Amino acid sequence: MTLSTAQIRQKFIDYFKRHGHQPVASSSLVPSDDPTLLFTNAGMNQFKDVFLGSEKRSYTRATSSQRCVRAGGKHNDLENVGYTARHHTFFEMMGNFSFGDYFKQQAIEFAWNFLTQELGLAKEKLLVTVFSDDDEAFDIWENHIGVPKEKIIRISTSDNFWSMGDTGPCGPCSEIFYDHGEHIWGGPPGTPEEDGDRFIEIWNLVFMQYNKQSDGTMAPLPKPSIDTGMGLERISAILQDVHSNYEIDLFQNLIKASAEVVGTTDLQDKSLRVIADHIRSCSFLICDGVMPGNEGRGYVLRRIIRRAVRHGYKLGAKDIFFYKLVKALTSEMGEAYPELADQRPVIEKVLKVEEEQFSKTLSRGMAMLNDVLRDLEGDVVPGEVVFKLYDTYGFPADLTADVAREQDYTIDEAGFEASMQQQRQRAQQASNFGVNYNSQLTTDHTTEFTGYTDEQGEGQVLEVICNDEFCEALSDGQEGVILLDNTPFYAEAGGQIGDKGVLEVANGEFVVTDTKKMGNAFAHYGTARGTVHKGDKVSASIDASNRAAIKKNHSATHLLHAALREVLGEHVTQKGSLVEAERMRFDFSHFEALTSEQLALIEQRVNEEIRANHTLTTELMELDEAKASGAMALFGEKYEEKVRVVKMGPFSIELCGGTHVQQTGEIGLFKIVGESGIASGVRRLEAITGETAIAHVQHQQQLLTEVSGLLKSDISGITSRIGQLQTQQKELEKALAAAKQKLASQQGADMLGQAVDINGTKVLVSKLDGVEAKALRGMVDDLKNRMGEGVVVLGVAGESKVNLIVGVTKGLTANVKAGELVNFLAGQVGGKGGGRPDMAQAGGDQPDNLGAALDSVNAWLSDKL
Ligand code: ALA
Repeated sequence: MTLSTAQIRQKFIDYFKRHGHQPVASSSLVPSDDPTLLFTNAGMNQFKDVFLGSEKRSYTRATSSQRCVRAGGKHNDLENVGYTARHHTFFEMMGNFSFGDYFKQQAIEFAWNFLTQELGLAKEKLLVTVFSDDDEAFDIWENHIGVPKEKIIRISTSDNFWSMGDTGPCGPCSEIFYDHGEHIWGGPPGTPEEDGDRFIEIWNLVFMQYNKQSDGTMAPLPKPSIDTGMGLERISAILQDVHSNYEIDLFQNLIKASAEVVGTTDLQDKSLRVIADHIRSCSFLICDGVMPGNEGRGYVLRRIIRRAVRHGYKLGAKDIFFYKLVKALTSEMGEAYPELADQRPVIEKVLKVEEEQFSKTLSRGMAMLNDVLRDLEGDVVPGEVVFKLYDTYGFPADLTADVAREQDYTIDEAGFEASMQQQRQRAQQASNFGVNYNSQLTTDHTTEFTGYTDEQGEGQVLEVICNDEFCEALSDGQEGVILLDNTPFYAEAGGQIGDKGVLEVANGEFVVTDTKKMGNAFAHYGTARGTVHKGDKVSASIDASNRAAIKKNHSATHLLHAALREVLGEHVTQKGSLVEAERMRFDFSHFEALTSEQLALIEQRVNEEIRANHTLTTELMELDEAKASGAMALFGEKYEEKVRVVKMGPFSIELCGGTHVQQTGEIGLFKIVGESGIASGVRRLEAITGETAIAHVQHQQQLLTEVSGLLKSDISGITSRIGQLQTQQKELEKALAAAKQKLASQQGADMLGQAVDINGTKVLVSKLDGVEAKALRGMVDDLKNRMGEGVVVLGVAGESKVNLIVGVTKGLTANVKAGELVNFLAGQVGGKGGGRPDMAQAGGDQPDNLGAALDSVNAWLSDKL
């Protein structure tokens, strides 16, 4: 019986469990606490600290099937996907681990026995490699296991020395290869043909012995350990008797689903493989909280999504399709990974939004690229073109490379990077604009901050800065900057703006309008009244009510952050914030505008936590300890070893250096006043608290009261009152239009009497007052109907303009063309016109000439009739 992928996964875990290993669940694709790693790329990542000896577990043997992404960082297979039988952006790595328990011999035995006995692979099909000087491993394979010498290959390159990244646990390794047979091109490891698909590495046994340092040196691990990794997809291909990973049950089902959603029947097409591969990495990345964006992990995700989308359109997809595959993926993998099934709606949403955005520019970008390729001399796409596609059409460089490669071109990566660099510099220059002190000035002074507890303090002026230079004193009325040895003034950081207040000195004072950091010193910006000298004793007082408002807003951002994660999901992470006295702004990752229901719920939750009146606690902790306690930290932010952790009951815990209320009840009221999108995948909420929020609500109430007064209705009745008024207005508009119509036709009847006879035809020429140009057509139609046969000419003179209209009944148009007549007349009033033979209009700007023009009608007509 052929085993399914799911059964093989289970068999592996069961085997190692029987041999004393603790089954451990796959960790997230986003490594927790490990800034050295972009994505989880191997089973051992979650055990890194256990190998290093800094973390202890209750077991010394473990086994897992770990979801991995290799699409960026040290291990990157993205470019190979679709071109080989065995590369993926996402794959599952099954592994067994020993933390100072067994070592080489037993690791080799376990692996060999599992493959040959448990799975029943033919021994002749297997060959192994060892690191060049690892005689011990060679000996175990040869003498203990009985692998013939010629099938044990010594490899001296990094292929047989595995490390997780540029730093971290590492060691020599021994790999087991499977020979798929002569009919497939490729050679054994170590030969020039090794990149072919015939001999495929299925299992890597790493003999973990060192911790690689950033300077390249190798420190020994506390105890020799074992880390192994076997690709689930590769072993499944062998057991299911197929050659390519893409032919295993799981992939075939995804490929079929992909073919269906893009509308193709050729299941062999490489693009289907790309799509089937990419839906796995994209879905799991989103499941683990990554959102498409322009940096870091988010950008890798975006690149993969866009690459998949491009392949779909290449296959003829007519519509947004990629998100539709999450369903098929969930049926394949949802049982082994329940989190995938849970997050399905979010994953679908994110993929859909991203594809919608990209599809708007995809075809235009493709057209440009194809034009470039058609006219290209040589076979390298220039860097500026790659950059333009990136900048204008959202084509990641590897997507352009992918298209180019299909037509045997490559891209100029260095040129692309250079253009990117120039753009970064331009952005940098733009954002430097507005720095308000000489950025060349530096200081070694350190200011002690006393403002967590105090609003007032005594200190000394360390430095005075006038006109962007250090100086001795500021004179009366002079603007400048003052550095103090200690201060209760908070210097702008972490989104919270700097304090305002006053510094009093013996001969005057300094009014502080802002405080910022300058190295480790606090720089007070403001204006002197009297004189302020370097060395003066200072009595510093912050503007306490301003600070009180800032504190409320700052504490509220923490509650908001937690409420957003609760209501919208764990994918929400802070992208920036601004905390001022008047309001606060909070930017966060989310893929679409918030609904009014969501906004209401978020507001409610924050207010509930305010009313819970949590006591706020702050604590200095080691960074690791803080993260372990669940404190939210900003990704990519550099934190000191010791961090300040701010806690509000069980609801919110964050790393933060800002100033806060003591009890959440002080915030009083939290009110959201704005929601908007500021970049793809980033939303912004603006909110107010405390007195400002109360004033806002009162102001709204006041407006409502005024409105209800105007409407003569109580507040609860205003919507129905407005409804009534709208209906009434519509009715009145209708009645007015009918009355106008009636009036016009009466005028028409009266006018008919003015018609004259020219050669047997009725001709009506009339000058009207105060008739709108819009009404003229209706009048002419009406007059024509009443006349039977005839010509109507109407002119209206306004203050500075003229409107003319000519109507000719059908039977006369052979002789008289309305367009010609109206042009003849328009020429006399400074205008031009045109229209059909039976109806034409014109304008002009010489109202004084209208009378004469109308008088000329009869003579003009008498020639034609
Ligand atoms: N950590 C090893 C690898 O990824 C097993 O190949």
